[in-house]
Amino acid sequence: MSKQDKDKWNKKFQNKPQLLIPREPSKILSNFVTRVNSKKALDLACGSGRHSIFMASMGYNVDAVDISSIAIDSLKKQKDNYNINCIESDLDRYNLKENYYDFIIMTNYINRELISKSLVSLRVDGYFFIETYMKSDFNEKKDSNDDNLLKQDELKTFFDRNYEIIFYDEVENESYEIHKMMKQVILVKKII
Ligand SMILES: C[S@@+](CC[C@H](N)C(=O)[O-])C[C@H]1O[C@@H](n2cnc3c(N)ncnc32)[C@H](O)[C@@H]1O
Repeated sequence: MSKQDKDKWNKKFQNKPQLLIPREPSKILSNFVTRVNSKKALDLACGSGRHSIFMASMGYNVDAVDISSIAIDSLKKQKDNYNINCIESDLDRYNLKENYYDFIIMTNYINRELISKSLVSLRVDGYFFIETYMKSDFNEKKDSNDDNLLKQDELKTFFDRNYEIIFYDEVENESYEIHKMMKQVILVKKII
């Protein structure tokens, strides 16, 4: 599967190099992140790194992980003076550091098993932000694989009472996207 995923995403970035130009970070995420001094963040499936770059600009030391060598190479060229560790790896087999990160981000990507696995990586008082596509009649593009879309309220189900839900919503995707789609967004804080 991993070779297939890597080829699929490399081909996509090769055919559409415009996808490598990092867009603005999620507005919802940027509303919540405050400037810090050398805290640690993990950007899961970072792509060309819009959130890695944003988090680094806010003072985080970022581990940015993606399976696509093209996306990771593009981020390496852009990261300038920022503290971003670019990691080309398949997240299905990635060894997460325990009790290590202050902020974990997963956007426009869904890997349910990884969400659960990542929780051990989050420190107490740390945040987990997820923003990705959900099933909706509003969606203009139908995904060939229904599993790629979240079910109603699904993001809330990953977090038990050790986590406080700071924010949850269902929102339209960004206006620059070709197809209108609904997303689910959650920000939780690990309290125990
Ligand atoms: C739609 S992009 C999202 C990029 C970024 N998170 C954002 O919101 O701009 C999805 C990313 O998931 C990565 N990806 C897909 N499967 C992966 C896997 N098994 N391990 C790591 N990255 C993966 C792709 O290479 C691609 O960069």
